[in-house]
Amino acid sequence: MYNSRIIGLGKYVPENVVTNNDLKQWMDTSDEWIQERTGIKERRWIDPETSDDTTSSMGVKAAKIAIERAGVTKDDIDFVIFATLSPDMYFPGGGVRVQDMLDMPTIGALDIRNQCSGFIYALSVADQFIKTGMYKNILVIGSENHSGGLERSTRGRGVTVIFGDGAGAAVLAREEDSTKGILSSHLHSEGAHAKELALEGPSTGRWVDTIMEENDPDDTSYYPHMNGQFVFKHAVVRFSEAIIEGLSANNLKKEDIDMLIPHQANLRISQFIQKKFNLRDDQVYNNIMRYGNTTAASIPIALTEAWEEGKVNEGDTVVLAAFGSGFTWGSVVMRW
Ligand code: UT7
Repeated sequence: MYNSRIIGLGKYVPENVVTNNDLKQWMDTSDEWIQERTGIKERRWIDPETSDDTTSSMGVKAAKIAIERAGVTKDDIDFVIFATLSPDMYFPGGGVRVQDMLDMPTIGALDIRNQCSGFIYALSVADQFIKTGMYKNILVIGSENHSGGLERSTRGRGVTVIFGDGAGAAVLAREEDSTKGILSSHLHSEGAHAKELALEGPSTGRWVDTIMEENDPDDTSYYPHMNGQFVFKHAVVRFSEAIIEGLSANNLKKEDIDMLIPHQANLRISQFIQKKFNLRDDQVYNNIMRYGNTTAASIPIALTEAWEEGKVNEGDTVVLAAFGSGFTWGSVVMRW
């Protein structure tokens, strides 16, 4: 059995910066409200007037950097795993788009639909393929274009101010040293709460025809909906559980964590977790202030930045944890 290890990381965010004050042109909100409740100062939103970025193309841009830094070529990649909740098309998914845009051989491409935990699920799946020896190098991408589908009005403000666009990517490679790389991953779900953070239509549960026929001005089913306080309460519990589960599976204590990269859902959640695990500021990486919540892209963007800033070094114990829509949650523990 092999281990898998991240050998290259990359990120891409759209150029267009949208500050909290910029949001006031569409909705009744304030910089104070947003910063106090979420920690967010600004986010990137694709500007369709000046950019042709899509979920897949942003993923490709991040992937190119990750592949180059890994010291491999696109032809060395055996498999693509693409995590998103905002694919370019209803079907097919983003994985095949990446395979095409990167002009890769006809390798397999898999899409992961686990929202905020998408990258954790994607890494775990990639790790299993590498462990069994089936693949050697896997490109794992998390990418989101939220801005195209958010309700830019006071009605939608509870959700709209939180989400941002961007992509992150990692090349996961076979590692013969069993003490290095991904040490464990743990995945969970609780579908009973599926509707607490969801976008219901258009889908097979709510066809476009029905939405158009009803033509109901109060219909918000085709915008993301979140029961914020309910999600928040579950998030703090599940984040903690996932981290504890990952640590105990490896006989590690919280003091052993060198870097915790939580999914960037809300700075208040990250701070709660930091306090609970008694971690110093330099042991928890946060960038939600600059990007908002980029769902499946948030962990790979944060991990890339932490690595670029020299905050993740060889031998470090790195813990990734996420919680989100589904509900789904999980953790990955790595030795860098
Ligand atoms: O990534 C996936 C997981 N996601 C999460 O973990 C997110 C978890 N939830 C949260 O982070 C928080 O619940 C939010 C940041 C989403 C919301 O914060 P909150 O403290 O739970 O606020 P709330 O939704 O209870 O709203 C409080 C008030 C309401 O007004 P009233 O009814 O008290 O008069 C809202 O209408 O704030 C109002 N409000 C806003 N005001 C200004 C909601 N959104 C806004 C806004 N600007 N953008």
